[in-house]
Amino acid sequence: MQDNRLPYRKFYARKEKLENQYSGDYNQKQHSKGKLTARERIDLLLDEGSFHEIDAYVKSQDNNHDFFGDGVICGYGTINGRKVLLYVQDFNFLGGSLGAVHARKIQKVQDIALKMGYPIIGLIDSGGARIQEGVASLAGYAGIFKRNVQSSGVIPQISVILGPAAGGAVYSPALTDFRFMVKNTSHMFVTGPGVVKEVLNEDVSFEDLGGAEIHSTTSGVADFVYSDEENCLLGVKKLLSYLPSNNVEHPPIARRDDIEPNRLDNISLIIPDDSGKPYDIIDIINRIVDTGSFFEVAENFAQNIVTGFARLDNQVIGIIANQPKCLAGTLDINASRKAARFVRFCDAFNIPILVLEDVPGFMPGQNQEHNAIILHGAKLLYAFAEASVPKITVILRKAYGGAYIVMNSKAMGGDFNFAWPTAEVAVMGPEGAVKILNRKDLANAEDPEALRKKLAQDYKENIANPFIAEEKGFIDEVIDPADTRKVLIDTFALLENKVEEKISRKHGNIPL
Ligand code: HXC
Repeated sequence: MQDNRLPYRKFYARKEKLENQYSGDYNQKQHSKGKLTARERIDLLLDEGSFHEIDAYVKSQDNNHDFFGDGVICGYGTINGRKVLLYVQDFNFLGGSLGAVHARKIQKVQDIALKMGYPIIGLIDSGGARIQEGVASLAGYAGIFKRNVQSSGVIPQISVILGPAAGGAVYSPALTDFRFMVKNTSHMFVTGPGVVKEVLNEDVSFEDLGGAEIHSTTSGVADFVYSDEENCLLGVKKLLSYLPSNNVEHPPIARRDDIEPNRLDNISLIIPDDSGKPYDIIDIINRIVDTGSFFEVAENFAQNIVTGFARLDNQVIGIIANQPKCLAGTLDINASRKAARFVRFCDAFNIPILVLEDVPGFMPGQNQEHNAIILHGAKLLYAFAEASVPKITVILRKAYGGAYIVMNSKAMGGDFNFAWPTAEVAVMGPEGAVKILNRKDLANAEDPEALRKKLAQDYKENIANPFIAEEKGFIDEVIDPADTRKVLIDTFALLENKVEEKISRKHGNIPL
């Protein structure tokens, strides 16, 4: 029974008013745009009954609105029993635009998340800086960005774009660790189609300018894309299941038995006899890691490299693998950027790294050179060299030249470097090497094609194999592919307590 004394009557009346403002037509407005309401989103994301709202009753700076909250719902709760902070923008109030009070609410949960060491999740649905509030709203964004940067590498920060993210609304997501989008309803852009038309006289749709498809395939801004909000929020929960709550914790350990111990029988046969032929690296990943545990990150962007989390004997690892079925697995600008960022995330959050290598080299060409493959490729070099978490590489097939060095080679600091017998470790592939080493012989040969084939075969047998590197100690062991899972489990266990001292400095200067 409710206490009927005056303070309690006020207390309950306010509560009722808050409830009423989020009902009826209010919800219909969002639903008619194919979107869920802020409250529905919270219910889907958090464990039932776990949400506690903070600052529910604050009002806008101008106080012109008889509406609580200033367009954002903030608070904390649990996801699968683990604490998270979150803020959820409410598009129904002034288009989820960011006013001064709205910004202060977000900053408050950011501060709590950082101080207490819990992940923060932002559900974004916003027209950007609130135009009416002018510079106060711009300053509000600045305060959020500053906190994003302070939290970077300390707590996981996740942005889920569930509507427009326009203007300033894009830069907080850009500073966070992962961005989720939903097809057709999420749009991210610094300047919208209207401004594009005005300034450049170009017609472009919301979808083509900043939809989920474009950002997950072309720009690489979106790491995860789903067809609807329900699945998107399930994706957020899944991602969290691989992450520690902060940079001093270790990732959560699953408690599951791997039920298919013989998945590695004949795994070597996935690699075709002809080393020019492609195969799907995902088939290899899925057979090495705990059944069904691979969770790919940025699946549709720079598909020549695969990044994702998985479990190996219930322990979380991060995987970086060349994908021979896309651009032959070459390293290009986008692949380097994608992989470098993933390596740095894993390193910041104590997630051991596994590299599965089959890389013919860097992608050649003017396009790559003119767009600074030199600097972008160096990002991946930098990231691997800097990472102090346990790092293991398994070379499956090609490991040529600079790309071999980049992919966590021994001399770059790989803790353990293994190879399958099919590995080809050399300065360059047989075709290129034979042309340079045997130019005169080939020019004078009666049947140059037959000689080229023979020389290429000799090169593979005598030079491009893993045994020379093993004899020189650059490969710790050439292993039977069928033993890969066991070798990795045992070696990661050995590396469990790895400590790598770092020289004190303000920060390094990663090529950008
Ligand atoms: C105040 C805003 C707003 C904003 C939208 N609204 N954006 N109010 N400030 N930035 C209001 C609208 O006036 C409208 O109010 C309601 O929200 C819903 O907007 P609609 O336009 O009807 O919705 P929709 O058709 O879905 O289009 C959504 C939208 C569009 C694409 C976001 O509203 C839009 O283009 N807004 C402006 C986006 C923008 O240029 N932002 C940049 C701001 S500058 P009523 O009362 O009619 O319901 C910025 C710089 C920060 O952010 C830089 C920091 C580095």
